[in-house]
Amino acid sequence: MIPVHKKIHPIILIFMNKPVLLRTFVITFAIILFDVSVPAQKSDSLKLAFSDSLKIEALLKKMTIEEKVGQLSLFLSYRSITTGPSQKTDSRELIKEGKAGEIFNAYGVEVVHELQRIAVEESRLKIPLLFGLDVIHGFRTIFPVPLGQACSWDLEAIEKTEHIAATEATADGINWTFAPMVDLARDPEWGRVVEGAGEDTWLACRIAEARVRGFQGNNLKDPHSLMACAKHFAAYGAALAGRDYNTVDMSPLSLYEWYLPSYNSCVKAGVASVMTSFNEINGIPSTCNSWLLSDILRKTWGFKGFVVTDFTAINELVPHGVAVDLKDAARLALNAGVDVDMQGDAYLSSLPELLSEKKITIRQIDDAVRRILLAKFKLGLFDDPYRQCTLEREKKEIMTPEDIAFARKMVSESCVLLKNERKILPIPQSVKSIAIIGPLGDSKKDMLGPWSATGKWEDCVTLAEGVRNHVSSNIVVRYLKGCNVNDNDRSGFDTAVRLAGESDFVILALGESRDMSGEAASRTNIDLPGVQNELSEAILKTGKPSVVVLFNGRPLAVSGLSSRAPAILETWFGGTQAGNGIADVLFGDYNPSGKLTMTFPRNVGQVPIFYNSKNTGRPINPDDTSEKYVSRYIDSPNTPLYPFGYGLSYTSFVYSNLNIKVTGKTINIKATITNSGDRDGEDVVQLYSRQKVGSITRPVKELKGFQKVFLRKGETKDLSFTLTTDDLAFYHPDLKKYFEPGEFVFFVGGNSVETIEKTIDLSH
Ligand code: BGC
Repeated sequence: MIPVHKKIHPIILIFMNKPVLLRTFVITFAIILFDVSVPAQKSDSLKLAFSDSLKIEALLKKMTIEEKVGQLSLFLSYRSITTGPSQKTDSRELIKEGKAGEIFNAYGVEVVHELQRIAVEESRLKIPLLFGLDVIHGFRTIFPVPLGQACSWDLEAIEKTEHIAATEATADGINWTFAPMVDLARDPEWGRVVEGAGEDTWLACRIAEARVRGFQGNNLKDPHSLMACAKHFAAYGAALAGRDYNTVDMSPLSLYEWYLPSYNSCVKAGVASVMTSFNEINGIPSTCNSWLLSDILRKTWGFKGFVVTDFTAINELVPHGVAVDLKDAARLALNAGVDVDMQGDAYLSSLPELLSEKKITIRQIDDAVRRILLAKFKLGLFDDPYRQCTLEREKKEIMTPEDIAFARKMVSESCVLLKNERKILPIPQSVKSIAIIGPLGDSKKDMLGPWSATGKWEDCVTLAEGVRNHVSSNIVVRYLKGCNVNDNDRSGFDTAVRLAGESDFVILALGESRDMSGEAASRTNIDLPGVQNELSEAILKTGKPSVVVLFNGRPLAVSGLSSRAPAILETWFGGTQAGNGIADVLFGDYNPSGKLTMTFPRNVGQVPIFYNSKNTGRPINPDDTSEKYVSRYIDSPNTPLYPFGYGLSYTSFVYSNLNIKVTGKTINIKATITNSGDRDGEDVVQLYSRQKVGSITRPVKELKGFQKVFLRKGETKDLSFTLTTDDLAFYHPDLKKYFEPGEFVFFVGGNSVETIEKTIDLSH
């Protein structure tokens, strides 16, 4: 869109809200004829935007209805991976006929050049293609899965992973990623929690912004910038019972307060596209929800980019039961505000007919096409359709040694130390023989985790390899699988137990395989699958010093394991450098600092369980958990296995001196942290608040800020957080957000449970 500058001539301002054609016409003439005063530093980009606008209008004039609808149609490449039913097979013909404006899952200089060449040389109007791909946690250098990265609480590092992913993906011809996934999720049964940031809205917003910045950079024209896509709009993470694609039914208040903000953060960060979700919300599927796509996204939030559906989501309006047939579905989607049809062939097959039947208007189609063409201009595709993707660039910019080193550090940062009795970890130097046992100990494929773009399992370092790389040759490292991830075969137990008995130290590598989380991978039992619990029992019975290293894409309900194992390190799926990064933690070269961003339940019956819950009218008394008529289970504690924000270090931290000063609307919170252990280390200092009394009920704790602080052993640091009363505002039943004066408790600590606190009156 035309950037508005405050010093723009009033003539231009008058026409800013007029239809695009009129606006473009008037503004261009104003510039040419009257030389209206536009500040020098802005004039170039303004002229550029004006000229893009003119070109778009000129193109639109030349386009047939089929070519217009083609720009609204995204198809799989003829050489690609797929996540759903394929409607079209050979995209080359479609491109030549101008019937595909975007292609996905085609990558690599050769393929991208082949397809783009058809678009810009053989199609009538020579409009370049967008090339989309799910670049979710790295392109070729694969980083830890997003949920793991979130546990680093390192926004700069997260941004950098996306910047590296963008550099690699664009070198290989991709210019659009279907990420970030910013769906808030509180139910670990849902397999896609692995793609998100966890259960907290505030943190999810910060991570969403970092990811958009990382992908898109400052200027989409830079050939290293990748256009981002916030998904899945909206509330996909609230699928009932954690079953993928299931119904979402929630109060408007919950939607506004918890589920919508992370998408809005993406919009504020300038995300260029948004993807609809598969689910319905309160009876209306997102893909035909004009309240969501037009009222909230475009009108309220001011989103200027384009909206794409999820995979065949228009077609799914038929089984959802809101459309009679595909044509009807296409009509509903366009009317709601969907610009691009992903893989459904609904727009291509139906929009021309719907137009001739006057069920939709040409203006609706033109508006959608404008948004697509504008994105293509912004990416610089009309100047260089290949965006400098060359074999040389591919060679130079993909998997650089610096990026691989960074990926290794990211693995270590994402690890969360859940338990470390008697300081079993780090593995002492006196250890002369190490047994690695378990189905995830040497599995390259699983290290990639779900959604691994063009990552190659052959590049991955397994735990066994990482440990071997780490130790000197006089230390014996032996690996045995013991059992498979998910079957009943116990035949490997005896030899595994023998190996454990013969070794000084045991590393048990347990968890899920990579395909057990991600899309269409919901589980009702979120304990360790197969016979892994039994294997762990048999091995831990040997009494050897042991650590369990977990690989998984969701919080697991591993109560049994947690009581048996003296030490547990959660590592998620670390990607290319998994084994090396984990070994750095196990041997103490990296002191763990990761903190959970999603609660680990004791059992699946507690789900959904999250830290920022409400108190209820009958809260449990922590000092008398046997009381009957209170909000509790009769067969399980209410408390989680490991709470939000939790994670241990090899050192320890003590918090003190919580002081709060209020000046006007500003609240300054000060506290002191001391590294009381015998090692240098980092802690993620978390700030929570609670409004004691409100006009509607408030959560028992809400994250309001954090700082990742490094302290040498014995060191003390003073910390300071500044909030304003706006940070304490919340949505009210009228769906307006504002601050309500009252008493507040502020909590500071290293996790959401163990905190120091102070109450303050903010009534005035
Ligand atoms: C997923 C999206 C993804 C799309 C394209 C769908 O099945 O839900 O997240 O971007 O496929 O691969």
